[in-house]
Amino acid sequence: MCGIVGYIGRREAAPLLLNGLKRLEYRGYDSAGIAVLNGDMQVFKRKGSVGNLEEMLNVSGTVMLGATAGIAHTRWATHGDPSDRNAHPHMNVTGDIALIHNGIVENYSTLKQDLISQGYVFNSDTDSEVLVHLIDRIWKSDPSLELEAAVRQALRHVEGAYGICVVSSREPDKIVVARKGSPLVIGIGNNEFFIASDAAPIVEHTNKVVYLSDGEMAVITRDNYTVKTIENVEQEKRVTELDFSLEKIEKGGYEHFMLKEIFEQPEVMRDVMRGRVRIDEGRVQLGGIEDYLDRLKQAKRVVICACGTSWHAGLIGEYLIEEFARIPVEVDYASEFRYRNPIVSSDDVVIVISQSGETADTLAALRLAKEKGAMVMGICNVVGSTIARETLCGMYTHAGPEVGVASTKAFTAQVIVLFMLAMALSKGRTISHDEIRLNLRELAEVPDKVSRILEQNDAIKVIANEFKDAKNALYLGRGFNFPVALEGALKLKEISYIHAEGYPAAEMKHGPIALIDEDMPVFFIATRDNTYTKILSNIEEVRSRKGRVIAIASEGDREVSRLAEHVIYIPQASGPVMPLLTVVPFQLLAYHIATLRGCNVDRPRNLAKSVTVE
Ligand code: G6P
Repeated sequence: MCGIVGYIGRREAAPLLLNGLKRLEYRGYDSAGIAVLNGDMQVFKRKGSVGNLEEMLNVSGTVMLGATAGIAHTRWATHGDPSDRNAHPHMNVTGDIALIHNGIVENYSTLKQDLISQGYVFNSDTDSEVLVHLIDRIWKSDPSLELEAAVRQALRHVEGAYGICVVSSREPDKIVVARKGSPLVIGIGNNEFFIASDAAPIVEHTNKVVYLSDGEMAVITRDNYTVKTIENVEQEKRVTELDFSLEKIEKGGYEHFMLKEIFEQPEVMRDVMRGRVRIDEGRVQLGGIEDYLDRLKQAKRVVICACGTSWHAGLIGEYLIEEFARIPVEVDYASEFRYRNPIVSSDDVVIVISQSGETADTLAALRLAKEKGAMVMGICNVVGSTIARETLCGMYTHAGPEVGVASTKAFTAQVIVLFMLAMALSKGRTISHDEIRLNLRELAEVPDKVSRILEQNDAIKVIANEFKDAKNALYLGRGFNFPVALEGALKLKEISYIHAEGYPAAEMKHGPIALIDEDMPVFFIATRDNTYTKILSNIEEVRSRKGRVIAIASEGDREVSRLAEHVIYIPQASGPVMPLLTVVPFQLLAYHIATLRGCNVDRPRNLAKSVTVE
């Protein structure tokens, strides 16, 4: 998510920091800000791209001249809209401490109430601002402390994830940084140091870096840096030599953003669940819909509207909500819903799902549903987007910026949110406390299982190579995995331009079977669930017509390998969480087939990341 940059040395800090921010802009691009120390502390921040901030500084740039230390931030909103006031750095009331933060302070609301009761006034809606006031409170209560100690003490109160940089005009020759969960790298130059959330802004200045580990802090001056744990134990750190090009590092070492985003999924999944999934308590904590939960539970019907990949997530949502919460669900293409005079009333809840939060058809469906009196809830990735603003309540997916046009990590994040929603709607009504705990435990195990699937990337590439010249492809699945078949086919056609169709496996005999010949790859999801034996029969049917079968099967399965030409084994899991696993090999297959065909996977022809027109 957000990007962090810091500089302390002998050169002008502002241009270096701005340049660094541009390199990190893919991490967040809804607002940016900078704080430099030149006697006083100067802070500038602005909504929009780093370019906007730069324009502002061109006007007032001279103010920053002579500053040789500073910090800067490019934001990807999680708490609070993208706006000037929510941009980082955040400052204490007396304006002598500035802080930038990447991550989520999970207990921010308790900390904030506490600080407000002690007279602290907040200037933003962010979770991050509590950190600067907390440091201020500790420092004011004991002015003999150094900044480093005040930061250390403050962090003891913080739950959640952070990468932070703090500067103060009271100690102008240092930057204090700390990390838990969110990455931080220190670049070691000649009498100068760089700090960043990843090596992208550093590599053009130096290839010597120190990666902070979780639970570590560093104090960086013009001549030196020391690393300690947050408990104040000095650490020996190894200096690493970077050996990648600038180009690669922007994609975190991956060839394409899409691949990077596929690989980010375990981490993203943990972020989506963080602070929300409470296994021991047998419940989920969904801040954005808490006040509306009772009304949601009383809905006579849920209607889900979305487009593209988000619509596929919606289909899985239908299976989940009906299975657990026993509320009837209808899933509609937003573009159809808006023009078909749908029957919707105040008894209904309409859920709109959108990664970008800007898709024109989804937005129109939202507005229509509101007009008809339905309660409208949103599931969006981009904070402060139009859909997020116009819905009554909702949940963010917290998947971080998705750059690749073909959606991957946003999809799995949406499915996790829908799973958590299904649990919240079921609690106290349709399933027992123990069942909820069991389901949440299954869900919490998904990120590790996805990591194990990702380890098979090379083997999946080998399979992809065999099918890269296919003209058509069929994807088949049943139950919870039927929407995954649709998503697998969509991924392939979006980026490789191979015609692909997804079907519920049993429907094959009502049409698609006519297409099967020795050139037709058929991708089956054949994991062990209640339709497993039926799927095996479908595979036999394809085999007897000489179709080429590639199957996703549960680890330990012997039957499928007997029938399929290629099998990708995935860890066993319960049916309802299975789509989060089965979709991953399909993402990788599509990615490799497309790159082997020489297609531009990050920017496929004719497609757009955010479709803001009809
Ligand atoms: C475009 C994108 C898809 C996305 C769809 C819906 O077609 O290329 O990846 O699934 O829009 O976008 P949304 O932002 O509303 O999820």
